[in-house]
Amino acid sequence: MWLMRQAGRYLPEYRELRQRYSLRELFHTPELAAKVTLQPIERFHFDAAIVFSDILVILEPLGYTVHFPEGKSPYVEETHTPGSVNNTLEYVAKTIALVKPQLDVPLIGFCGGPYTVARYLLGQETMMRWIESQPQQLHALLRRITTVTSEYLQLQAHVGVNALQIFDSWAGLLAKPLFDEFSLPYLRQLVDAAPLPTILFMRGASQYVQELASIKPAAISFDGQRTMKQLREETPLEIAVQGNLEPADLLSSVAEVQKKTHVLVGSMRGEPGFIVNLGHGILPNTPLENVQAFIDTTKFLPPG
Ligand code: CP3
Repeated sequence: MWLMRQAGRYLPEYRELRQRYSLRELFHTPELAAKVTLQPIERFHFDAAIVFSDILVILEPLGYTVHFPEGKSPYVEETHTPGSVNNTLEYVAKTIALVKPQLDVPLIGFCGGPYTVARYLLGQETMMRWIESQPQQLHALLRRITTVTSEYLQLQAHVGVNALQIFDSWAGLLAKPLFDEFSLPYLRQLVDAAPLPTILFMRGASQYVQELASIKPAAISFDGQRTMKQLREETPLEIAVQGNLEPADLLSSVAEVQKKTHVLVGSMRGEPGFIVNLGHGILPNTPLENVQAFIDTTKFLPPG
């Protein structure tokens, strides 16, 4: 059991650091990024840690600076000549090297899906225009992103992560022919080239179970659109399933969280290959006691 975006604004110790440092400083300073990675593990003892970074840092080797304005969507600016992944993202490797010896649970590295990264680079409008009128140009961009992302996954594996999650958050909004053309082939290349087990995450993944399973990742992460039990039945048994309490379900009360967790975890009892998680990232205003109730109910569910 672990949570998506388990490091972040719902934690007082993270907010305290954020008062002193910008998000960019946190990402770019290995000592600080390592500290943030460990915060949720120290407080909640999750079964896995996830590297504190962002899917958009992959744009740095391509020559862009990523800005994370408060309360707004991130945006990019072309600022420098492209450089190697190993040099421009060395600070992530350093973060991983610092964190790893301090952990007694696995460490998850990650990247964005090429479609989702391209969507942040181009913006939604330009993305739609390129899909319609410049598909070859879009494919060229997706190929470039896939190449650097593969190198980035190699780098993370080399310095010691144990698994890799690929976040293609926006690809589930594509209609099937567009998903098949602009997302799936690039995900397949990443999974094929990854030196470690991969977890695929996509909002709305339950629409594309067969397609995602055809890439043969180690696991697929699902949101709450369908029940986990149905998704377990539809997903080939050699692929684990991850999810799928809705992040908003953690905003209610301890009693509600216990009830929802009982339903989820109870329904999966005896099923193989199940990673308890949320359907998407934890919300910043999530009460800590509700996170604790989610964990406790999952781990100490009475038998029967
Ligand atoms: O604990 C973890 O999960 C590890 C760190 C992590 C972050 N971003 C840190 C972060 C991970 C795995 C991500 C992935 C990510 N980043 C995705 C894919 C997952 C998803 O949520 O769909 C996407 C689409 C992004 C892009 C991104 N980064 C956006 C849209 C934003 C701004 C919106 C927001 O949530 O504030 C970010 C900033 C960001 N990345 C924060 C964190 C903790 C916000 C932190 C802050 O403001 O202090």
